[in-house]
Amino acid sequence: MKNVNLSDIKVLFDENEIRTKVKEIANKLNEYYKDEEVCIVCVLKGAVIFATDLVRELTMPLTMEFIRLSSYGHSTASSGKVNAVDIKLPDLTGKNVLIVEDIIDTGLTAKFLLDFIALNFKTKSTKFVSLLDKKCSRQADVEADYYCFEIDDKFVVGYGLDYDSKFRNLKFIGYADKSVIK
Ligand code: XMP
Ligand code: MG
Repeated sequence: MKNVNLSDIKVLFDENEIRTKVKEIANKLNEYYKDEEVCIVCVLKGAVIFATDLVRELTMPLTMEFIRLSSYGHSTASSGKVNAVDIKLPDLTGKNVLIVEDIIDTGLTAKFLLDFIALNFKTKSTKFVSLLDKKCSRQADVEADYYCFEIDDKFVVGYGLDYDSKFRNLKFIGYADKSVIK
């Protein structure tokens, strides 16, 4: 992979825009679930920052689970194959499950996870919230119930998302031009 520097990254959504949007989505979720208990399923590693900000805006009783899936490896394009690195979950039967993802790109990861949950548990409800939605590169027939921002065909980093394992700690969501990363 090419070496990318912080100076190569342009801001797409800044800290304030993200904070405002996360609160807006949290309000919708608070309205939807009211006082019902929810089990948050956070998809590591990318969704960890979004999930930890989101849950602090949620008012219903909730529990948190973390699973690890991978479809990119060390690339900026989906391999087309989802790797369940760690998908140990408690019994979710009868629970309201809210999957928290960083981005739906091809949709293969989301589809894999939704199918996995449907196959293994009879949940009370299963909803999907994603920080980003790259609708233009969808391959699987799947949509987020809630998302913060729609983006076009960019490889994004920051606020949990990485390039070559770096930049997850950026407070903003940014992108590098294709000529920089390819
Ligand atoms: P799919 O294609 O399965 O992708 O919907 C979902 C997973 O791929 C990762 N992904 C990205 N990671 N910048 C990243 O840092 C991106 O632009 C990007 N697009 C996809 C991400 O982990 C997501 O869970
Ligand atoms: Mg991810």
